[in-house]
Amino acid sequence: MIYLTGGWDGTGGSLPTTDEHAAQPFDGGSPVDEQVEAWKALIAANFAGDAACASCHAEEMKAHKRSGHSHTLAMMHDSQWAEELLELATYEDPRRDQRFRFQTRDNQFTVQDVANPGTPAMPVTWLLGSGVHAQTPIWVDESSQRGVEMRWSYLAPSDAIGVTPDHERFDDYQQGTIECYGRPLDNASVRACLACHTTMSPPPNLPIRQDLYIANVGCERCHGPRKKHVVMAEQGLAEQAKPLVTLDNPAAAMKVCVQCHRDADSVSPTATPEELVRFQPYGLKKSRCFIESSGKMGCSSCHDAHDAVSTDRRLYIERCQQCHQPKSSNDCPQMPTGDCIQCHMPAVEWTAGIEFHDHWIRSPE
Ligand code: HEC
Ligand code: HEC
Ligand code: HEC
Ligand code: HEC
Ligand code: HEC
Ligand code: HEC
Ligand code: HEC
Repeated sequence: MIYLTGGWDGTGGSLPTTDEHAAQPFDGGSPVDEQVEAWKALIAANFAGDAACASCHAEEMKAHKRSGHSHTLAMMHDSQWAEELLELATYEDPRRDQRFRFQTRDNQFTVQDVANPGTPAMPVTWLLGSGVHAQTPIWVDESSQRGVEMRWSYLAPSDAIGVTPDHERFDDYQQGTIECYGRPLDNASVRACLACHTTMSPPPNLPIRQDLYIANVGCERCHGPRKKHVVMAEQGLAEQAKPLVTLDNPAAAMKVCVQCHRDADSVSPTATPEELVRFQPYGLKKSRCFIESSGKMGCSSCHDAHDAVSTDRRLYIERCQQCHQPKSSNDCPQMPTGDCIQCHMPAVEWTAGIEFHDHWIRSPE
């Protein structure tokens, strides 16, 4: 249990002093500062950033802008949603006796439980998710390097604020502890959240700090660092900059997607079937389509990795029929020309109306 102690509970509702920490990084000389500088130099030397790709790869860039990959992480106080919450001003938790008030102070977005006097206002640091399904804020304490996943989120199905997915499990909480605000995250959990929603994240010896991350799942998360490629391409010598990562076959690409979308090696052994549907590689790799098509199938068989997910059913049905032609030996005995997806990759509700399509393609039970 993490209690509200130290800078938090004794100060009559004032903010934890994250500003102090934010203000002190470059005061010279300490080993951490040197490592920070070395990290920044490494990033600057190897990564070009998404904007540098636009001039030569306009199509990929346009698609990428539509995809949630390109806007899955924001600083809370800069986000569109923060503005809406400030207008809303307060929100009653539907399952707990709490009323959260949203404010800004010193250029920080804060939340305070005003139903329980004495609970201090808490800054909210990052906002994760583009909002296709949801957006969930987290707070990261710069001094302890731990955090909290807030109990309230933007939920797309209801287009409104509501209880963060899965937080029904935390309806019981201990007053006066950090649990008032949500689910405590240890250092490794905060880093894990950010690592899957960014292009580059600093190693554990460096602090969790905005300027050390490259936010969002950018081009170079999947394609590897490309500074040299840009420099060479500008001189007409693109072929001479050999990429660190090539995605020219389904297996190589799958290795990249699995890092975040998860397969059997990275899902929790206690995950429920509804939860497992979130993890597309987990499902796909269990499918006979995948197992028995000799390495030809991958995410790109049905998706453009650069783009938002298409909802055009005809496109997917065509993909199925590339391998399952009507009247062939392996067509559907039930409905060889119907909507394959509805029966073989149905949408399954995970929680709060948020649905995912089951990528374990199989005969319906
Ligand atoms: C000045 C033009 C130019 C810029 C800027 C540029 N590229 Fe390229 N890129 C090329 C050319 C030309 C090729 C084809 C060369 C080849 O076939 O190896 C290419 C090929 C690629 C490929 C496919 C082959 C491979 O190397 O994997 C990828 C992926 C790629 N670029 C990614 C990027 C990314 C990411 C950026 C931004 C960080 C970027 N490019 C910026 C010109 C450019
Ligand atoms: C192993 C990688 C991984 C970790 C760790 C991770 N995420 Fe994600 N997150 C993803 C992927 C992949 C998606 C897209 C699929 C989905 O919506 O589940 C996603 C989606 C989301 C979405 C919904 C985005 C949308 O609108 O579709 C939110 C919100 C989110 N994550 C928040 C978090 C928070 C908060 C944490 C830490 C407590 C976290 N994530 C940890 C990989 C990860
Ligand atoms: C989520 C991972 C991911 C991201 C992010 C991503 N790509 Fe790709 N990219 C891929 C995959 C996978 C392929 C291989 C496509 C295939 O198999 O059809 C690819 C292929 C390419 C190619 C080669 C296209 C061809 O016709 O051969 C270029 C160029 C490229 N990407 C550029 C970019 C640029 C520029 C960005 C950022 C705006 C970007 N990519 C972002 C996964 C990604
Ligand atoms: C660094 C982690 C990471 C990697 C690597 C990654 N993804 Fe994602 N992906 C995410 C997150 C996070 C989201 C949720 C984005 C959002 O907030 O909407 C997502 C969303 C998506 C979406 C839905 C996009 C939309 O807006 O509809 C598709 C499709 C997708 N990923 C495919 C892929 C494929 C294919 C690969 C491998 C080539 C891949 N991803 C690699 C983290 C990742
Ligand atoms: C790359 C080729 C390929 C694609 C694309 C593909 N499949 Fe398959 N699928 C196979 C192979 C190979 C099998 C193994 C059995 C067979 O040959 O009939 C199979 C098996 C199946 C089975 C039987 C599964 C079981 O457990 O008995 C179903 C159902 C199925 N596919 C549906 C689909 C649907 C629906 C789609 C489109 C969403 C699709 N497939 C796309 C190759 C493919
Ligand atoms: C056989 C076709 C097929 C393959 C292969 C496939 N998908 Fe999908 N995917 C779909 C369909 C169909 C949908 C639902 C689209 C819609 O909303 O109508 C979907 C939806 C998604 C979504 C949106 C969330 C959801 O589940 O509805 C993500 C993210 C995604 N796929 C990622 C992946 C990743 C990552 C891979 C590779 C492991 C992959 N897909 C492979 C057919 C496929
Ligand atoms: C109305 C629901 C429905 C639709 C639509 C549908 N299927 Fe099926 N499919 C089933 C059922 C149920 C079975 C299992 C039937 C059985 O075992 O006799 C099945 C079985 C299959 C099989 C396994 C055949 C085998 O020999 O084991 C394949 C492959 C398949 N479907 C592909 C498809 C494709 C491709 C489409 C789209 C063109 C499609 N299905 C549309 C319900 C459907």
